[in-house]
Amino acid sequence: MTLIASVSSSKGGSGKSTTSINLGVALSSFGKDVTIIDANLSTPYLSMYLGAPDVPITLHHVLSGNAHIKEAIYEHSSGAKIIPGCISSHENFDKLSLDDLQSHLKHLNSDIVVLDGAPGLDGEAKSAIALSHEVLAVTTPELPSVAHCLKTVRMAEKMDKRISGIVLTRAGHETDIKRTNVETILEHPVIGIVPEDDYMKKAAMKREPVLSVFPNSPSAIAYHNLAGYLIGNKHMLEMKSYVNPENAGIKILRWALGIKK
Ligand SMILES: Nc1ncnc2c1ncn2[C@@H]1O[C@H](COP(=O)(O)OP(=O)(O)OP(=O)(O)O)[C@@H](O)[C@H]1O
Ligand SMILES: [Mg+2]
Repeated sequence: MTLIASVSSSKGGSGKSTTSINLGVALSSFGKDVTIIDANLSTPYLSMYLGAPDVPITLHHVLSGNAHIKEAIYEHSSGAKIIPGCISSHENFDKLSLDDLQSHLKHLNSDIVVLDGAPGLDGEAKSAIALSHEVLAVTTPELPSVAHCLKTVRMAEKMDKRISGIVLTRAGHETDIKRTNVETILEHPVIGIVPEDDYMKKAAMKREPVLSVFPNSPSAIAYHNLAGYLIGNKHMLEMKSYVNPENAGIKILRWALGIKK
């Protein structure tokens, strides 16, 4: 069965696309077949993070009935598959609904589909959650962002979705809300902490995931840890054989095995 997970938060710029891409690449490095879908139909810029700004067949073509979903899959050098949206404006694409993705998802053979959610709480942001089995909620460690995240978490819970956990992005500032306070507010555990990292900007300039071009950077290691943790939760035995201690480091093994200290 394919696990469909949305990366969601109503707050714009909280790190959804960055997390979708790097988590997707990290899961793929653990041997998982991963497809990352740009579930942001109105501002579909996922492919810009990967240096493929305008591809001929996109999710928009699929949802408008002009292409099969398999025709919209592009394979990144990391092995992760991407289904981007159409960047250029196109009248026929104005009224598409992400809800229609449901009937196409069954044609994907991936182990995990990651939906890069749109900001907000309605429309496509809500549809991405509705399409998912579980929701990974992302937030920066600042109160307004956590407050946005709470709305998203509550909405997902109302829709009976499992919350995989909270990912703190751009963390490490003196003014950050403490992890335990974030957990108290959101009532879910923080399962990943991604530090603010200049390598993220350097990777963006190269139009590559930080995990691909700076695998030993703090943010890349954090995304690798997160993937190990998520896989370890569900497929512990399988995951152990995929961990490469040389790349991953002892910390990741500890995370993946559930040893916190
Ligand atoms: N750990 C990090 N360190 C430094 N910069 C980061 C980090 N994570 C994300 N960013 C930067 O933050 C900005 C916003 O990230 P991103 O686009 O992933 O957010 P988003 O939630 O997808 O936004 P939107 O709601 O508009 O879709 C980007 O410029 C990204 O490069
Ligand atoms: Mg985004």
